[in-house]
Amino acid sequence: MKFVLTVTRNTHHMGLRRGPLQRCILGLIVMGGWSMPMPSPGAEYGSPGVPGGFGGVVTTSEPTAARVGAALLRDGGNAIDAAVAVAFALNVTEPQSSGIGGGGFMMIYLAGEGRTIIVDSRERAPAGADPNMFLGADGAPFPFPLRSTSGLAVGVPGMLRGAELALSRWGTRTLAEVLQPAIRMAARGIRVSRRLADASASPRLDNEPGDPVYDAARAVFRPGGEPLREHDPLIQPDLATTFRLLAGRGADAFYRGAIADAIVAAQQRGRRDAGSDGQARLRGRMTHQDLRNYQPVIRNPVSASYRGYAVLSMPPPSSGGLTVIQVLKLIERFPLGDEDAGYGFGQARTLHVILEALRLAFADRALWMGDEDFVAVPKTGLLHEAYIAERSVLIDPGRRADRVSPGDPRPYDVAGLPSARALAGLREAGEGGINTTHFTVMDAAGNIVCFTNTIESQWGSGQMVPGYGFLLNNELTDFNAKPRANLGAGGFDPGANDVAPNKRPRSSMAPTIIFQGEAPVAAFGSPGGSTIISSVLNVAVNLIDHGLPVGEAVDAPRLAQTSANGRPFFEPGFEAAAIHSLQQLGHDLQDDRLRSIGSVQAVVIEQPAGRRYGAADRRRTGGVQSLRAHRDGGG
Ligand code: GLY
Repeated sequence: MKFVLTVTRNTHHMGLRRGPLQRCILGLIVMGGWSMPMPSPGAEYGSPGVPGGFGGVVTTSEPTAARVGAALLRDGGNAIDAAVAVAFALNVTEPQSSGIGGGGFMMIYLAGEGRTIIVDSRERAPAGADPNMFLGADGAPFPFPLRSTSGLAVGVPGMLRGAELALSRWGTRTLAEVLQPAIRMAARGIRVSRRLADASASPRLDNEPGDPVYDAARAVFRPGGEPLREHDPLIQPDLATTFRLLAGRGADAFYRGAIADAIVAAQQRGRRDAGSDGQARLRGRMTHQDLRNYQPVIRNPVSASYRGYAVLSMPPPSSGGLTVIQVLKLIERFPLGDEDAGYGFGQARTLHVILEALRLAFADRALWMGDEDFVAVPKTGLLHEAYIAERSVLIDPGRRADRVSPGDPRPYDVAGLPSARALAGLREAGEGGINTTHFTVMDAAGNIVCFTNTIESQWGSGQMVPGYGFLLNNELTDFNAKPRANLGAGGFDPGANDVAPNKRPRSSMAPTIIFQGEAPVAAFGSPGGSTIISSVLNVAVNLIDHGLPVGEAVDAPRLAQTSANGRPFFEPGFEAAAIHSLQQLGHDLQDDRLRSIGSVQAVVIEQPAGRRYGAADRRRTGGVQSLRAHRDGGG
């Protein structure tokens, strides 16, 4: 078996659907369009690329973690082993985004069985949670900066139980084995990336000076009171100690005993600067029992066809898969990709119908989507052909709809949900966080892991468990801060995403795998809170409709819409004429909405040959490891 190991950001993949039109678009892009002067503020983090191969591929938002995954694959581990090793490595190199104090969704394609399953390690609310818990004495939610950095925002972490489950069911290595690279990195030190250095200067680390839980984070990431500097060594001895305990005793070392004691104590912090009301009400409610009771869940993906491809994505408690797929179905009647009809890449009509479809889907998301272990989510109805047709006619290619409201998918839902009540008016959804991480791993045998993992906001709650070196998430801010917020006079609001004991907050995470027939052809996902949905959608359309090569599909500028009636975000790089046309159609695109959107890590498999291409987004540091096995040598 012979490998050529290469390190790169993206590759020379030629697109899922490449006719003369797509080649023409690519030519324009390469000659003078967006791929040269990078569109986003994150572009400065990127690095150059090389071709794909027939062996394993690891794409991450940070290159050291990609090397860890590749080493596992080279050593004979499978995609599941490598993905878990990558997740631990990212806890060391990108601690502001994900780690053992958080949770995520791991989509696994098992090549031998032709089956795709999900390990849901999403955090849960403690048993003591209640729908009004984020409200102050005045009945209004505590301001986001306070509630999101309080113990009350901390969900029961799930990442380790999920990793343990995935390894035991589908991996070939033990938890102790896949932890070794992260232990070495935490103990011996890493070089600080520019992105980590920038994050260490963020005000999200400024909370409650003098409080040992917030001070613990500053002691690691602001040594001597100063932010980290790029290329400086960073040693995390407490995190190394925690990883060693986990290697010795398994995930139980986290969910029981001394670490559990320290987690429970840490999240009991309220916020002194929220006054006596905040100090009392913003204390976390997690108990030892909550930690002991945490269980990951194995779920089936939601799926639908789009232009002949099968798209599999994340089910509830994430809204990501249902919303991405709903948008794809809503736009399927438009000739996307046809430049002559005005539906080429970056053309105003394309962008307009996508924004309108996102608005419709976000209206449904706000009302209907939440943790279906607690509420009935009309999954079938939301994707039903007749319901999609009913909603899609609301997209007028000639103008932006003034106001968009949720539809009523219940008549189309076989689950027989309660019906015949008028729908409520719609409250705007929040814009969501900007952190989290996504990575994709494929092994030579064809198994794929598509993993979005998070501690929610940058630096999570800002609380580090003293002595153990990991950050606690603030995932419970993904719940509605106010219950039944959509309930108007006589209206119907199922409270799909209201807080409840042991419930999982609604996510937008959307690890997605696209199949052509039985064969996977693309796997990708993104961080970015509720903009995740737009990032994943943009890349799916770029691959399928515009036939862009994977590197360009990922790096191309994006638009995002995160609510039914709010304003869209957009990245630099679109033609001024297209932006102007969108403004004429009624979309409020102003420079104050310019921002970097998401960070997609993707693998594309060119069928039938099976050559694999990895791409890591230039918006973050980006790392692709491509293990090129000769076809006759196996992989
Ligand atoms: N915390 C981000 C998400 O779950 O969508």
